[in-house]
Amino acid sequence: MFLGIDIGTSAVKALLADGHQRIVASSDVPLTVQRPQPGFSEQEPDAWVEAVIAAVDALKAAHPAAVSAVQGIGLSGHMHGAVLLGADHRPLRPAILWNDGRSSAECAELEARWPALRAVTGNKAMPGFTAPKLLWVARHEPAIFARTRLVLLPKAYVRLALTGDAIEEMSDAAGSLWLDVGRRDWSDEALAATGLDRSHMPRLVEGSEPAGQLRADLAARWGMEKAPIFAGGAGDNAAGAVGLGAIEPGSAFISLGTSGVLWATTDRFAPNPDHAVHAFCHAIPATWHQMGVILSAASCLAWLAGVMETREADLLAPLGERPAGPSPVQFLPYLSGERTPHDDARIRGAFAGLAHENGRNAMVQAVLEGVAFAFADCRDALAEAGTVISGADVIGGGSRSRFWVEILANVLGFPVHRLSDGETGGAFGAARLARLACTREAPEAVCTPPRRIETIEPDAGLTGAYGEALARWRGLYPALRGAAA
Ligand code: XUL
Repeated sequence: MFLGIDIGTSAVKALLADGHQRIVASSDVPLTVQRPQPGFSEQEPDAWVEAVIAAVDALKAAHPAAVSAVQGIGLSGHMHGAVLLGADHRPLRPAILWNDGRSSAECAELEARWPALRAVTGNKAMPGFTAPKLLWVARHEPAIFARTRLVLLPKAYVRLALTGDAIEEMSDAAGSLWLDVGRRDWSDEALAATGLDRSHMPRLVEGSEPAGQLRADLAARWGMEKAPIFAGGAGDNAAGAVGLGAIEPGSAFISLGTSGVLWATTDRFAPNPDHAVHAFCHAIPATWHQMGVILSAASCLAWLAGVMETREADLLAPLGERPAGPSPVQFLPYLSGERTPHDDARIRGAFAGLAHENGRNAMVQAVLEGVAFAFADCRDALAEAGTVISGADVIGGGSRSRFWVEILANVLGFPVHRLSDGETGGAFGAARLARLACTREAPEAVCTPPRRIETIEPDAGLTGAYGEALARWRGLYPALRGAAA
């Protein structure tokens, strides 16, 4: 039995997968995000640990025998977050998250301090990444920076709390801007540019390698005779890829979660930092990937449901199964700023083209289309980096909406595959990595693709209209950039 744990931004999910890769049970515990100032996004690291323990407690209560039989644990987590720890390994402040936009000035400073940054890390310094956050703390909270002895990403903090070991794996480490992504090792120059050195970093392993053992008291609490080992695990997107079997070069998927990701697996380090393409290590040895990342995807629909004081399902229901054509209204999904392709932490969202006759449905459809258009920008940024995508799986909460997936296929111009629910997402991928760490099987034997329930092809009658709508939508960002506060 293998336990996969995904530390998501809005919830922790713990999932049990048996030796046949069947999902035995899963349990979710919600999390909140604190936004103490506009553009800030923080969470208390101990809230993740409490949620993980609560999620496993719930599994234990419902499935005691299965939990007792767990051999291996895999962790997946939202990427880039900065957890600053003092000499006692306790957090010195709340974690600064992946969608926090406070460190734009520090990004420019970092690139000026170390001109080789893009070549070595494969990425542009963007405010979501970890290194510029540390420069921000050094400048605005110097006493905290001076006391910092260890810097961890979110899932590594959870591992430290559950095992006592400070260990990180390549796919998440690549999003810190401290990794030499081609060599899969910390870069001394990158660390020095942030006023840090290797002593501030956890030990590095591959995602499918062993990485710590569960504390004896927790093993006893969950009735486990032998304390399970941990796998290195993966950043949430790489874990999602492992869950989908996207480990072979050329495989691609769309993640329609809180953030949005267009992912392509590569057999080499293939950066295009100028268009804010992310070039990171995969969680499988000697494998890399590219991704375009949009900061607000399914979270745009959640936001609209909140504003309209209703549920997302109630917004979607009146739209039906497939669009008749693009909405007359347009929406920019930049509620937290944007990464790919603009790298603009200050831009914000907007509705455009509203008229008296437009009601709720037109606005809801505009939100879904705005997110799809942002994915078209990612597709084009990846194409400039040499990756042409001809079809993709779709995962994440938004993929449950057939209507939304129809829009994606029409806008992106390639077939999009919907998958059977459940066997997707970071927790399932993390459970697979736990298995690989325990059994040492070949990754391709374990990381098989899930069942596709439906392939949605672009509708030839609508792709022209969507192409025109995309061209109009692309005029909004330059027009609104000057209006950003
Ligand atoms: C990827 C990114 C997000 C987070 C949260 O670069 O910032 O996808 O991992 O899911």
